[in-house]
Amino acid sequence: MLNYTIKDLLNKGKEAVLQEVCVQGWVRSFRSNRFIALNDGSTIRNIQLVVDFENFDAEILDKINTAASLKAIGEVIESQGSGQEIEIQVQKIEILGESNPDELQSTILQPKAHSLEKLREQAHHRFRTNTFGAIMRVRNSLMFAIHKYFNENGFVYVNTPIITGSDAEGAGEMFTVTNFDLEKDLPKNEEGNVDFSEDFFGRHTNLTVSGQLEAEVAAMGLGKVYTFGPTFRAENSNTTRHLAEFWMIEPEMAFYNLDMNMDLAEDMLKYVIAYAIENCPDDLKFLSDRFDKEQTQKPQNERSELLLMERLEYVLHNNFVRLTYTEAIEILQNSKHNQKKKFKYPIEGWGMDLQSEHERYLVEKHFKSPVILFDYPAKIKAFYMRLNDDGKTVRAMDVLFPGIGEIIGGSQREERLDVLDEKMDQLGVSKENLWWYRDLRKFGTVPHSGFGLGLERLVLFVCGMGNIRDVIPFPRTPKSAEF
Ligand code: 4AD
Ligand code: MG
Repeated sequence: MLNYTIKDLLNKGKEAVLQEVCVQGWVRSFRSNRFIALNDGSTIRNIQLVVDFENFDAEILDKINTAASLKAIGEVIESQGSGQEIEIQVQKIEILGESNPDELQSTILQPKAHSLEKLREQAHHRFRTNTFGAIMRVRNSLMFAIHKYFNENGFVYVNTPIITGSDAEGAGEMFTVTNFDLEKDLPKNEEGNVDFSEDFFGRHTNLTVSGQLEAEVAAMGLGKVYTFGPTFRAENSNTTRHLAEFWMIEPEMAFYNLDMNMDLAEDMLKYVIAYAIENCPDDLKFLSDRFDKEQTQKPQNERSELLLMERLEYVLHNNFVRLTYTEAIEILQNSKHNQKKKFKYPIEGWGMDLQSEHERYLVEKHFKSPVILFDYPAKIKAFYMRLNDDGKTVRAMDVLFPGIGEIIGGSQREERLDVLDEKMDQLGVSKENLWWYRDLRKFGTVPHSGFGLGLERLVLFVCGMGNIRDVIPFPRTPKSAEF
């Protein structure tokens, strides 16, 4: 007898006919007291089990309810019905875990359409739904492809710390990590502030907002490195694009200028999307049907012009449009959209930070293509970005995607100590704290670049989903940390 995952068995197809097999899984449905649809999570597809109820105890049949788990042994036969190539003529069933039909009613395991909101409320059940199961397998495939890409291209995977003393982005959106007993009075210093020198690490520490600064350290010895880990932001933005805990991929490369950085970002995105298309055909078929149907229910002006698979193919086969921030502002300023005051945040001119609506306008309406914006005003970007000769823009780049807005943010780094110091002073970034970061510029500094890709934004794009909470197992957002 052969043990199979449902995926492997279905992939064998007719080759498996006449084999005696064992499969295990969860019941998706049981109809006519005869046909069980069984799923084990290895694939979105179910295997059909055929039960001759005359040969089974009523006691067992009674327990074959939706969501129950079971082990079935039987012979693979060619399917009589349409819809599937093979099925299993069951000889033996062992119920592994029962499912209470009364309690099932209120769960998302009940086989009918449920809203994504309801799925989120039952995040412990949603791995068993078609939609979330498909998303998780695509997410897995993308993560694997990311590692594969960097591995094949000579990058060293380094782990940067999760607990850190620095604010890499200088945006102050950090979660403090402390071992103080918060029920008691906290030790205070002479200025009356909390005295973190008495805390566990002897200093103020926080959860990392980015592994970049430490990745730069590693790149200054290893050449090409990347980090891939959880990142935390205490930004109180309740949007469909922000999480308080998300996963970020951050490559960092010595001897790379901004053009090389852009080339790498574009090449990597294309590689990992192509990998998912090739390796997740069933899941992407399901998700694209879902996406395409969803579009038809939206008002015309909110619809995506391309179907999901067309959109993915478009990204693979077209060059991303590259333009400077300055050019982008001109386009936005002169756009009908702006003149008709259709932006929530009107374009006020050079120097303003772009909002998601502006980024999406450029990508979805103007260029109809992924876009890389570069050379942003220094004032709206982080302290570590390399200053251009014009003295007012920095070598920053943002990759913007349809339906998403910013998917990647990166830059060439400021490798000149004097320029970096001046910037740190201007922005009030502590030189004392980042002495080690400054040290990199004292001993064999080199031009170098890197970027950060938000994994969940990539999964959103590939799966055609609209809310970032639906592409991570247990989302962390303001006022929400259930499970
Ligand atoms: O643009 P960000 O803030 O850049 C950095 O953190 C740099 N240190 C990266 C680097 O150069 N090594 O974040 C990078 C990406 C964004 O483009 C976005 O995809 C994602 O991380 N991101 C978020 N994803 C989900 N929720 C949030 N709150 C996110 N903030 C950023
Ligand atoms: Mg950014």
